[in-house]
Amino acid sequence: MSGKPVVLVTRKLPPNVEARLQRDYRPLLNREDRLYDSAELLRLADGADAILPCHTESLRAEVIERLPASVRIIATFSVGHDHIDLAAAKARGIVVTNTPDVLADATAEITMLLLLGAARRASEGERLVRSGGWNTWSPSFMLGVQVTGKRLGIVGMGRVGQVTARRARGFDMEIHYHNRSELPADKAHGATYHASLESLLPQCDFLALHCPSTPETVGLLNAERIALLPDGAIVVNAARGSVVDEAALLAALAAGKLYAAGLDVFNNEPDIDPEFARRDNLFLLPHLGSATRETRDAMGFRALDNLDAFFAGRTPGDRLA
Ligand code: 8YV
Repeated sequence: MSGKPVVLVTRKLPPNVEARLQRDYRPLLNREDRLYDSAELLRLADGADAILPCHTESLRAEVIERLPASVRIIATFSVGHDHIDLAAAKARGIVVTNTPDVLADATAEITMLLLLGAARRASEGERLVRSGGWNTWSPSFMLGVQVTGKRLGIVGMGRVGQVTARRARGFDMEIHYHNRSELPADKAHGATYHASLESLLPQCDFLALHCPSTPETVGLLNAERIALLPDGAIVVNAARGSVVDEAALLAALAAGKLYAAGLDVFNNEPDIDPEFARRDNLFLLPHLGSATRETRDAMGFRALDNLDAFFAGRTPGDRLA
């Protein structure tokens, strides 16, 4: 490699991030923000030293195996890395990094929005006002579920889960959680640990999913586990659609087992199951978890910090493979 490293940037990134890329690298930018399919990505990667993808690019084994030999690092602009086959990257000696920490505040904000929106029927109410169909008020009009003081179960007590717990305490919520391991007291802040989902679920008036999508967590919230939630519970998901068995969730919403759900993530985004749009007791967002200016800048800078470290011969701070 001679001169500045060439970085294939698969999506349009914030201006400050692209400016730093242009200062320190030879970036191949995607000015139109087109979605590259695998064939185009492989063609564009020819001669690149690095790829800076988003979760919208699927870097599964058969793509990684065909990457040109020039590519030595994949620095994803995301905390989630279920779109990258780490084993395949490792087998080819390609380093992979992600952008943890910096999304926690923004994603916890969206979780609280989902929780409040689902419980207080925000989508339904907004649709009514906008449609001109609001023509009454009565003491029994559009009653929802109160959030304050309820029990919140969190699956995955990593950075996002911990910030969500902190925000939820502002609503006097009682925090329960399931995680691979119990948090030390200074991080748990009195939250109750459950070693199994089967122990956690019956305690949840609200359930928030914050675990990564891995082979172990795909379909984690299935029909059997939904049945363990109290009747009328509310489920929110700002992690990955794949963590939920969507057919089971929709069935539980239709049957009234669940009062409502708030979802920011789905399987097969953006071509999601049309049944989601048909149900009233759903508060839906189009994968906005980290979508603030501050966080998207921070994610870009974090990905660039990883590239800088790698090309300076150091181990990147967020190395996954
Ligand atoms: C990102 C996310 O914005 O970081 C993640 O894992 O899910 C999102 O909030 C997205 O993945 C960008 O690639």
